[in-house]
Amino acid sequence: MEQTLVILKPSTVIRGLMGEVINRFEKKGLIIAGMKMIQLTDDILAEHYFHLVDRPFFPSLKRSMMASPVVVMCVRGVEAVSVVRAMTGATNSRVAAPGTIRGDYSMSGQQNIVHASDSVENAEIELKRFFRDDEIFDYKPATIDALYGEGEC
Ligand code: PPS
Repeated sequence: MEQTLVILKPSTVIRGLMGEVINRFEKKGLIIAGMKMIQLTDDILAEHYFHLVDRPFFPSLKRSMMASPVVVMCVRGVEAVSVVRAMTGATNSRVAAPGTIRGDYSMSGQQNIVHASDSVENAEIELKRFFRDDEIFDYKPATIDALYGEGEC
């Protein structure tokens, strides 16, 4: 199974939407393999968004990501990276499709509820950035046999 990083951004924490967003991943059948609340810093954001440091919106993006603690999650499932990206929707929440998390809960490209890794390679790098190995758990959900058909996982 794949694993991907999801960050519940301050827009989710401050608006009291953590439970609703986590619930979407659980209802989909994804496994929450790791989860913790942390305060992001200048240094970790400069690393995480290194590809955006020269963009004019970078200072504002950083401020928004430090406005409150965030929740970092390791989400596991077959093809979890693309499944989670599809659930997340377009970066600009105003054009994100209804039914996606951003499409349903937000109106902004910055205060857009969640970050999700965009590739398997980046998911591995991003998970290592936020989780120690012993913070990711390999447990078997009671529902696993009903979630996937034989040979699917
Ligand atoms: S881009 O422009 O394609 O490189 O950026 P994108 O991958 O769509 O977005 C990367 C993250 O930057 C945030 N973002 C912004 N923040 C503030 N202002 C503006 N205008 C803006 N545009 C994009 C966006 O929320 C993305 O955050 P993550 O955490 O990657 O979803």
